[in-house]
Amino acid sequence: MPSMPSSPAPQGRCQRLKLASSRDHDTVDALVMAARPFADRERYARFLRLQYGFHGSLVGLYQDTTLNRWLPGLAQLSRFNAVQADMNDLGLSLPSVPAQVVVEAPEALGWLYCSEGSNLGAAFLFKQTQQLGLDAAFGARHLAPHPQGRALHWRAFVEQVDGQVLSEAGDAQAVKGAIAAFDSYRAHLRAVFGDALDA
Ligand code: HEM
Repeated sequence: MPSMPSSPAPQGRCQRLKLASSRDHDTVDALVMAARPFADRERYARFLRLQYGFHGSLVGLYQDTTLNRWLPGLAQLSRFNAVQADMNDLGLSLPSVPAQVVVEAPEALGWLYCSEGSNLGAAFLFKQTQQLGLDAAFGARHLAPHPQGRALHWRAFVEQVDGQVLSEAGDAQAVKGAIAAFDSYRAHLRAVFGDALDA
């Protein structure tokens, strides 16, 4: 007699990354909200510095040859240039280029999962920038949806990441990378907003 299935269907890698990092996501989400980055342009300028620090630290990963072989088109996805353009729009000086995150490719998948996924929730953030008179052509370029649309773009990325064959150890590295990426975002956020988090 065939045995009843006793465990849920195996999940894709991104699904596992989501499960492993959902608490981190929620604390980061809450911190961003507490920072009130869209309350005025001064706060938004800080938010841009936060985005500059985070996305700037990942440029090396987005340009990495192995990762571009694994995820074709990856180099075009970095939002660092758009963040810089947003800062230029608002007349903000650009800090020096952030130190680069250097990790092995499996761990990098977790970092990229975090960075690309942040564009999903950015729909809400993008809307908020309109209150500051900003949009996809001025000041809020880096939060604008991908031309394909956020959901379609995300599904294509997930398919690429899920499609990579990794060892069990590699998979664990990817989870480690996703959590490290959220930690890093939190650290950038605290560095930029520290004193203004509860003000
Ligand atoms: C106030 C700030 C934020 C809000 C309100 C927010 C909200 C959301 C929402 C609603 C989703 C699900 C969207 C969907 O499934 O269509 C999502 C997904 C996601 N967000 Fe955020 N987010 C915020 C900040 C961030 C930040 C700063 C990061 C990373 C640094 C991040 C990383 C992710 C990731 C990786 C996913 C994909 C989860 C999955 O695997 O489905 N989010 N966010």
